[in-house]
Amino acid sequence: MSGASEQVAIVAGGASGLGEAIAHGLAARGDRVLVADIDGEGAARVAKSIGDTAEAHEADIRVDRDVERLIAAAADAGGLHSLVLSAAVETRASIVDCTDDDWQRVVDTNLKGAFLCLRRGIPLMVASGGGGVVALGSVLGSIVAPQYAAYCASKTALVNLCKQAAIEHAPDGVRVNVVSPSACEAGLFMQVTSMAPDPDAVRRMVASNTPMKRLGTAADVVNAVLFLTSEQSSYISGAVIPLDGGMAARRS
Ligand SMILES: NC(=O)c1ccc[n+]([C@@H]2O[C@H](COP(=O)([O-])OP(=O)(O)OC[C@H]3O[C@@H](n4cnc5c(N)ncnc54)[C@H](O)[C@@H]3O)[C@@H](O)[C@H]2O)c1
Repeated sequence: MSGASEQVAIVAGGASGLGEAIAHGLAARGDRVLVADIDGEGAARVAKSIGDTAEAHEADIRVDRDVERLIAAAADAGGLHSLVLSAAVETRASIVDCTDDDWQRVVDTNLKGAFLCLRRGIPLMVASGGGGVVALGSVLGSIVAPQYAAYCASKTALVNLCKQAAIEHAPDGVRVNVVSPSACEAGLFMQVTSMAPDPDAVRRMVASNTPMKRLGTAADVVNAVLFLTSEQSSYISGAVIPLDGGMAARRS
């Protein structure tokens, strides 16, 4: 995890948004990056834009066979040193309005997908001499918002899943941490707000409700992931790092 060129990283959900930025960041420090996504074309586009040190893998992280193939590809590439779990979906529905299908889609992607990646990825990471896992949580894993019942529940559960992995594999040199962004100028937040009649007004409103009075950036997230997958964070595991401009710390 020191940035040597033979380090191998997987970014699950690397075809867009924060995962795409993270894939570029890991490649820039010298990692070989496997860009994995259910969107195979998107993954191919990102891998191509990185160049020879990246490869694309179409994989649905809800499906164990896909995850097994992905981890086998990492083994072929030289092992697994960094695993970034960025894939997620959301649905806008309160508890009483959330359908079975939407609940299942969100929980399967955001929670079961992470579980399958940990179950298959950790043994390879151990065999590779240890490494760092970073899961993308959300500020909505610690505070909730109306209309995000399934998403909030999945992100809270993801935190404890990662803490579980952290304690079970601490003796193996595998560290597992969560970064929890609030609204960022990338990915899901930009997609959702682009459907509003005045996207910029919504984004300004969200920024003004943040203690730091700005949205997060992809760079904020990339920097945290690079730190948590480097030797500089070698005694940090089972942590949840808020990337929210102070939002979760605020009382009201
Ligand atoms: N962007 C934000 O403002 C924000 C805020 C808080 C948390 N997050 C979290 O950051 C992470 C990245 O979000 P983003 O904004 O980049 O979203 P995004 O939609 O741009 O990227 C998510 C990626 O996951 C992929 N994906 C979805 N289901 C998949 C599956 N079953 N298997 C494999 N890939 C799958 C999508 O195709 C997509 O490329 C997510 O975990 C999200 O919850 C984002």
